[in-house]
Amino acid sequence: QIKAFIFDLDGVITDTARYHFKAWRRMANELGFDFSEEKNEELKGVGRLESLNKILQWGGITLSEEEKIRLAEQKNQWYLQYIQEVSANDLLPGAREFLLATREAGIKTALGSASKNAIPIVEKLGVKHLFDVLIDGNKATKSKPDPEVFLLGASELNVDPLSCIVFEDSLAGIQAAKGAGMYTVGIGYMLPKGIADFQAGSLEFLTPSIVISEV
Ligand code: G6P
Ligand code: MG
Repeated sequence: QIKAFIFDLDGVITDTARYHFKAWRRMANELGFDFSEEKNEELKGVGRLESLNKILQWGGITLSEEEKIRLAEQKNQWYLQYIQEVSANDLLPGAREFLLATREAGIKTALGSASKNAIPIVEKLGVKHLFDVLIDGNKATKSKPDPEVFLLGASELNVDPLSCIVFEDSLAGIQAAKGAGMYTVGIGYMLPKGIADFQAGSLEFLTPSIVISEV
């Protein structure tokens, strides 16, 4: 029996993914190379330093640890600038309604994000109070596809991982959820078909009972 829904943030609740892309791309451009939106898919759900390492590899660039930390910090400064104006208007279609319906159905909710900025973002979006538990990139130390972030969510919610459904837009996130033994709902159109137990463009036309019957 399903007891909890765990939501990724970027790409599921709000579209901050494009700001991560914009900031990483700006950094790559300053280093003298570029990468495509398609390549960017590989960064979704992946932690800050892990993302940086991938990008540097694409550009064929080797840097010292100190240089990497400086660049990651720079990227985060740009990202923070881009998300300054984030508000409830930036919720993805249906996100708030789906969270409310989930709670009404007596299902627990958790946020499971790799981002260290996740909590200020859900505050800006005005949905922080709709999550029973918040797991962000400060709490979870291992990047998706490691299942840690979702296992922590289940444990803080006090539910069995096998009773959880994870909502994710990234391949790394779906892999993390599967590694945790959870059901998966793929959100958006970027995931390869057949990866998640159930797939939807957004939360907009879903209800908790549809999701539970489909996974
Ligand atoms: C999310 C995003 C990634 C981002 C990661 C770390 O998982 O999908 O694109 O790199 O969080 O975010 P942060 O805000 O801590 O740099
Ligand atoms: Mg995501």
